[in-house]
Formats: sequence, C-alpha cells, structure tokens
Amino acid sequence: MKTFYLTTAIDYVNGSPHLGHAYEKVLADVIARFRRLMGDQVFFLTGVDEHGQKVQQSARARGIPPQQFCDEVTPEFRALCAKLNISNDDFIRTTEDRHKTVVCALLQKLFDQGEIYQAEYRGFYSTRQEQFLQDKDRHPDGSWPELYGEVTEITETNYFFKLRAYQEWLIAHLKEHDDFIFPRYRQKQVLEFLAEPLNDLCISRPRERLEWGIPLPFDDQYVTYVWFDALVNYYSAVADRPGVWPADLHVIGKDILVPPHAVYWPIMLKALGLAPPRTLLAHGWWSVNGAKMSKSTGNFVDPIGFADQYGVDALRYFLIREMSVGQDSDFSSAQFLVRYNSELANNLGNLVNRVLNMTNRFAGGVVPAADTAGEWELGLGALWAATRDEVIALHEAFQFHLALERVIAFVTATNAYIEKRAPWKLGKSAEPADQALLRTSLATMAEALRLGVGLLAAVMPGTTEKIYGVLGHQPGPVWREELVWGTRLTGHKVAESAILFPKPETKK
Ligand code: MSP
Repeated sequence: MKTFYLTTAIDYVNGSPHLGHAYEKVLADVIARFRRLMGDQVFFLTGVDEHGQKVQQSARARGIPPQQFCDEVTPEFRALCAKLNISNDDFIRTTEDRHKTVVCALLQKLFDQGEIYQAEYRGFYSTRQEQFLQDKDRHPDGSWPELYGEVTEITETNYFFKLRAYQEWLIAHLKEHDDFIFPRYRQKQVLEFLAEPLNDLCISRPRERLEWGIPLPFDDQYVTYVWFDALVNYYSAVADRPGVWPADLHVIGKDILVPPHAVYWPIMLKALGLAPPRTLLAHGWWSVNGAKMSKSTGNFVDPIGFADQYGVDALRYFLIREMSVGQDSDFSSAQFLVRYNSELANNLGNLVNRVLNMTNRFAGGVVPAADTAGEWELGLGALWAATRDEVIALHEAFQFHLALERVIAFVTATNAYIEKRAPWKLGKSAEPADQALLRTSLATMAEALRLGVGLLAAVMPGTTEKIYGVLGHQPGPVWREELVWGTRLTGHKVAESAILFPKPETKK
C-alpha cells in the first residue's frame, strides 16, 4: 500500500510564526490524523524555507549572518508544531545538506538534459515577492500593485528553465485530473493563467545581488532561485524513502497556488521524469478583527500565546470550525469566545460533566448495562449512525467545518436526550421500571459521549484522549470499530469530574 504523503508549505523564517502558519499546520494535521485513523500509512512533512532575499535582508537588519539568523528563528517554528500537537513525521530546513544535495542533483540533471539555458534578462524585479514582473502585472495606470513592494529595473544574465515547452502537457494534465486542485473552482484560475504563453522560468540569481542561496552546480557565480529551491523540499525529504513519492497532498495557501505550485512544480517534476503530486489543496487566508494581519499595527495573533491561554484543542477546534477550507475567514477573540462557550464549554463540557456526575450519583461511578432497546433510545442511535457516516464523508471531502457542526449537533441531541429522560427524577423512584430506565439512560449517555468524541479525534486529539480517560475507556487499534454503538463502557469506572474547557474569566 502506498504511503499517504502530505505536506504543508515551508514557512519563510524572516519573522515569527503567526496565525496563518498555525492554521495551515493544524489543517494538514487534521488530514494526517484522519488518514491514520482510516488505516492509512501516513508520512507528514512540514518545515521552513530558509534561503532567499527576505531572509538575507532580515539577517542583515539584525547584523548577523543568515545561517545564524535561521538557527535562531527556526526553533520558533518547531516549537509552534510541538505546541499545536502537530503529528508531523519530519521537519525539513532548506539549509540542510540532505536538501541541498538533492537540489543540486536535480539542477544538474535538468542542465545535462538541455532543459536549462543561459540568456540575458532585462526587466522589472520585485524583491518582496522574489519575482520578475511583466507589464501585465501592472495596474492600468502603470503603477505596480502594493503586493510587489519596491520594484526595480534590472539587466542581467541568468539561467532559465524551459517552462514553456511543457505548457501544453500541463493544460492536458489539468483537464484530465479534475481533482488536481481543491477547491475545484481554483482549477479555472490555473487554466486562465495558462491561456497566455508561459515565460521560461529564471532559476538563478547572480551572487553579487544575492548570496544567500544554493550555488548552481554548473556555475558557482549564481545561486538558485528561492522558489526552485523551496519546492524541491517536498521531494528531497523523501527521495530516499521507497513508496512515498508522489505526494498525495500539498496543503498551501491560495497566494502560492499560481504559479509556483500549480505551474512551476508539476512542470519541474515532469521534466525530471518524476510523477506530479496528486492534489494541491489551496486554503484561504485569515484576517484578524476584519483587517489584514500585521505585526506593525498590532493586529496580530500569536498562536502560541493563544493556545497557552485557552488550550491547544480549543484553538484547533476554532480554526477548523470557523473556516470553510478554501474560503477566507476572520479571527477575533469575540467570535472565538462565542464558539468556545456555546459549543465547547456549555455543550460538550456540560455533557461530560453530566455523564460523570450522574454515573457517580446514581450508579456508584460504574456505567450500568442498558436494556437491549436502550441504544436506540429516542432516536439517538439512528442519529448516531447518520452522523458518523456523514462526518467521515465530510472529512474525505475536506469539509471539516461541517463535520464539526454535525458532531456538535449530536452532542446537543445527547444533552436533549438527558433532559428528556431526566435521570435525576428516575433516581428518586424505587419502581423497577424507572430503575431500568435509569440504567438505560446512564448507559446511553455515556455511550453517546464516547462515540461523539471519537469523531473529534482528528481535530482535538488531546480532548478525545482525556474524555476516553475519564470514561475509563481504552480505545482499540481500529478507529472504525470504535464508532460502533455497543456496550464497551458497561462496568467501567468513570472519573469523579473533569475540567475540559474552564470558563475564560477564571483563567490567568
Ligand atoms: N516560503 C513560501 C512557501 C514555499 S512552499 C515550497 C511562503 N512562506 S510564507 O511563510 O509566506 O507562507 C507559508 C504559508 O502560510 C503559505 O501557504 C501561506 O499561504 C500561509 N499563510 C500566510 N499568511 C496567512 C494567513 N493570513 N492566513 C492563512 N494562511 C496564510 O509562502
């Protein structure tokens, strides 16, 4: 069986990690965890993009060599992964030898094949985007969009990769693989870009202008263009691992889909005789309080600080619940607290408390056996079966926000079931029928909780584990089997209490 191989973009280390970086890692982690739960062998890669002008400039501003600068900032990105409970199998830095060796080997191969040639380039260059610009990139009034920062005119000799030779192949590939890009409507954007003739890709930067990069193996007066270097990370990390390539999924932001991931990367691979990735998932961007995130204006969310304050799983939950994959979304503390209180603390947290509390009060802390009909009590069993199948299908379709909505609806229905059965009333009656119904309702609510949180395992792994723990439940190795309504909790001793989502005002 082929390993399911997924990656995130590799982050520039010219600044500290922010909410956008955090989101992408959490999204990819949810997919990685879901695939593992479904029984796939998974390889999950993330890392950092350490070369290029941006990093060189930031290092200069600090007055230290670029390598030292990277060595200081990269640990922040590793710490972000650890904090967010990201289950990556590897973390690549583009300054590592294992990466540089592969970049050089691939460049040499393309050069030897005649896919790379030298030519004079004259034109406009954006340092911020590390990109040559064309007239079509200008505003109608001739000015350059702000996105490009300072634009300068340059003339220099460089090396070019024959991108244009593969344009027809790429168009055909896109048309044959309509699942190459998610969301599908972005495929159109790529085809529109390909409607114009492609320029060959300038893959070098003269050393006198940029030193911080991988020297070209066939001309050490040049370093490799940072995007050529960076894209290769997906391959260099697994080049010596059999059964991993091609990548099944590259999780990236919408800003870097066209042209780097959807045009340069598949063409680079094709020219090298390597299979293209199966799917590119382009997610949307977070704004903060309705505006672009920016450290200088203070409109910035530090994901580590936020996770410290509210809990990692609450942050993971919010990021996945609030954003429909592919669309943009806005982050604000107010909206975070609405979801935190209504969906987590007062709904899921409340259900956990009720199960523990009532099992202790009415059954000595031991989950009783239900009547055989118990599991289908008041439609809860039927709702469960529908919820489970739907949630799995929604995960397969990257519709995680809807999947979470369904799980929360099931938790709400379980709380409504408890209201209806009112175990606190049944507990006061000595009637055998009431006592039987009491046992059934206690067993039903505990089982519904166990099942519901099983569906949260990819998004809130720590919370699922904690709730299994307080229910005295040891999950088996096969996730699908965990999701079948049964009697696994019968006779289990539950904890006395659990605090999962403390009220924010009681926090430091
Ligand atoms: N280094 C390149 C990627 C090379 S991949 C071979 C890069 N780095 S980045 O640090 O600028 O961005 C890393 C990822 O974070 C990108 O996928 C980008 O879309 C994502 N995000 C950056 N800001 C974001 C938001 N505000 N919201 C969501 N994601 C955002 O590009």
